[in-house]
Amino acid sequence: MRIVLFGATGYTGRLTADAMVRAGLAPVLAGRHHDAVSRLADRLAPLAPSPVAEPTIAVADVDDPPSVRRLLQSPEDVLVSTVGPFTSLGAAAVDAVVDAGAAYLDSTGESGFIRRVFETDGPRAQRTGARLIPAFGYDYVPGNLAAALVLRRCREANRPASRVDVGYFVDGSFGISSGTRASATEVLFAPSYAFRSGHLLDCRPGAGGTRAFDLGRGRQWKGMAMAGSEHLTVPPLDPAVTDVGVWLGWAGRWTGPVSIAGSALGAVGSIPGVGSGLRRGIASRAGKVTGSGPDAATRAGARTLVQADATDAVGRPLASVRLDGPSPYDLTADLLAWGAAMAATRDVAPGAHGPVDAFGLDALERGCADMGLVAVT
Ligand SMILES: NC(=O)c1ccc[n+]([C@@H]2O[C@H](COP(=O)([O-])OP(=O)(O)OC[C@H]3O[C@@H](n4cnc5c(N)ncnc54)[C@H](OP(=O)(O)O)[C@@H]3O)[C@@H](O)[C@H]2O)c1
Repeated sequence: MRIVLFGATGYTGRLTADAMVRAGLAPVLAGRHHDAVSRLADRLAPLAPSPVAEPTIAVADVDDPPSVRRLLQSPEDVLVSTVGPFTSLGAAAVDAVVDAGAAYLDSTGESGFIRRVFETDGPRAQRTGARLIPAFGYDYVPGNLAAALVLRRCREANRPASRVDVGYFVDGSFGISSGTRASATEVLFAPSYAFRSGHLLDCRPGAGGTRAFDLGRGRQWKGMAMAGSEHLTVPPLDPAVTDVGVWLGWAGRWTGPVSIAGSALGAVGSIPGVGSGLRRGIASRAGKVTGSGPDAATRAGARTLVQADATDAVGRPLASVRLDGPSPYDLTADLLAWGAAMAATRDVAPGAHGPVDAFGLDALERGCADMGLVAVT
């Protein structure tokens, strides 16, 4: 298997490189600066379980698309990209993979980019044999897993669910990386979507308000409406599902005010001629720094909490599945390493896939359990 990690010198890239090397995957560490990837490979070589599993390096820059194409040598290759923000930097890697008929995973959480992969790149991939599995990190694997598990519970109880709401939370102290900050700016101004009454609908970013989740700790946890991958990937898992909600609760008690501010920014951003200028201004500032994020001690103080609530056609609660797991960045790195190994060794059909569709629910549940992401209800 040949696994290329593009963006290896960034914050998430370094964590993912570490996870891949520890798993014995011998990744090709790719980045835009030769010296930086070379230093990273030297640091990681002693961690490889054997000399043949030591990482190698490659240089590529999204501003030079042929250099990205050269990262791929055969349709068997797997390219994992952590080069973000994806809305502005992600296309070159997907295009290279589609042309090579290879496999692709990424760390994006940007709704507009995810939709593009499913709606535009997926059909192209079906023609070339490429396998595209975007958003394979904290965004949005746990929500896809929790949703699939709760839907399975409902089917087993013979009580089909019409609606699934997924809430993403972090329990404990939490810091965000340079790339997350830059991507959040892109999402604030990108056209958003919702899945209602069986249809994918366009909506304004920040619209949709908040929803409270009962996480069983004596208080309600609030999340604000987001466009996730679940809107695209959960309905195909169960034809009874007509509505999907994804709610982000990282901001804790600030979720309400953040939702109102996000909605106001989304409204301003959707004014023709204003949105793109404002986005460019904020994004250029947010995208200047790369490679920074919470240190290991800070990450150790945070847990991933994700819950999927299923309801019937008249809104009665049917079942809930809550997942508890490692901090978002550690989880993202482990997921990308695991997903890359799976994509390299399993048959995945050509096209764009969600995590359950790509590898099957049982395999995904087992793989996540090995990383410490498990259902606690
Ligand atoms: N879904 C999730 O749960 C999740 C979790 C973590 C991260 N993410 C996403 O993953 C992305 C990366 O996050 P991060 O914190 O790792 O960001 P980061 O540290 O800023 O890394 C960005 C990476 O992109 C590379 N890059 C920038 N411009 C490039 C170019 N022209 N050609 C090639 N590479 C280029 C940077 O290279 P240099 O190293 O040379 O600067 C760096 O490796 C973000 O979009 C973030 O939102 C998502």
